[in-house]
Amino acid sequence: MREQGKDVISFAAGEPDFRTPEPICEAAIQAIRDGFTRYTPSAGIAPLREAIAAKLERENALTVSPADVVVSCGAKHSVYNTLQVLAEAGDEVILIAPYWMTYADQIRLAGATPVVVRANASSGFTPDIGDLKAAVSPKTKAIIVNSPSNPTGAMYSRELLSEIVDLAHHHGFWVISDEIYDRLTYGSEHISVASLGEQAKSHTVTIGGCSKSYAMTGWRIGFAAAPSPVARAMSNFQDQVTSNPTSFAQKGAVIAFGLAADVIGAMRTEFQARRDLIVRLINEVPGLSLKAPSGAFYAFVDASAYMGGDDARLAEHLLESAGVATIPGSVFEGPGYLRMSYATSREQIQAGVARIAEALDRLR
Ligand SMILES: Cc1ncc(COP(=O)(O)O)c(C=O)c1O
Repeated sequence: MREQGKDVISFAAGEPDFRTPEPICEAAIQAIRDGFTRYTPSAGIAPLREAIAAKLERENALTVSPADVVVSCGAKHSVYNTLQVLAEAGDEVILIAPYWMTYADQIRLAGATPVVVRANASSGFTPDIGDLKAAVSPKTKAIIVNSPSNPTGAMYSRELLSEIVDLAHHHGFWVISDEIYDRLTYGSEHISVASLGEQAKSHTVTIGGCSKSYAMTGWRIGFAAAPSPVARAMSNFQDQVTSNPTSFAQKGAVIAFGLAADVIGAMRTEFQARRDLIVRLINEVPGLSLKAPSGAFYAFVDASAYMGGDDARLAEHLLESAGVATIPGSVFEGPGYLRMSYATSREQIQAGVARIAEALDRLR
């Protein structure tokens, strides 16, 4: 629509609108100038694996050997590799809805079957441990945990994560913990699953990356930290599929993972101000409601009062009649909701929600 010259305000993109911090860019440019443009080890260059291990120690209370870190082409690729090496036909992988839709497709790409457990708005989109227990079967190979969550921004407590680890230990399955939004939290403490003790560490693959926290979505650098046999399998697998992630992007990522906390802090402060703004504005619109999300940069808005809860039709209506792009909650198995990314300017948030209010007013 934009290409046709239409004025669209987008809340659809899952990426920060900030520029990648300058020192990161400089390192990559310098790497190209220095001729660092050849193959690297498939699992990533040693300084990057060391920088990631140091980041995990410093920020996530997690001690891992750089040898157990595998760098891939984004966290999405890391999740893919993990599922490819851990799951196969006949296996089940537990998913907590609403979930990032990529998980379900990647589980299927591994030949396995997603088993969905619903987390409700009334519990802040955190799952009930009884429901998770009920979903476990002899075929369960893993559970995917994503805290802070895309699309809800929910964060899981230490207690809940410990209970999930106990369950995994008791039944002998893996916890795939996607912590890509670990730095984007607004007052709640992020807990890395693998930091909960040796038992947790031995059952968990920790996924992270620099796309979201460092505004580096296009660089395609993510990582997995896993018990040695799993890390080795992922490294071997990647060796036959993509080889290494881009050499000079890795050089930039070394700087990113070592960056002073205040550089990221400034972005996080701005995200928090945007979150507060969108929560206030959405709740002023009759029929819409939104509880303040604890992390990430998504507002998962209850819009079930409109169009009989048909979120796909509602999203289409907002796009066609108001020029506002949102993602229907059904995409994430969260029907009746709209996902609005607030990784956009405060002006756009203000203008976009005003347009939504007008379009909904016309519907009433
Ligand atoms: C939960 C979650 N994990 C992973 C990713 C992908 O991150 P990357 O850009 O590092 O592949 C996203 C991006 O939207 C996401 O929301």
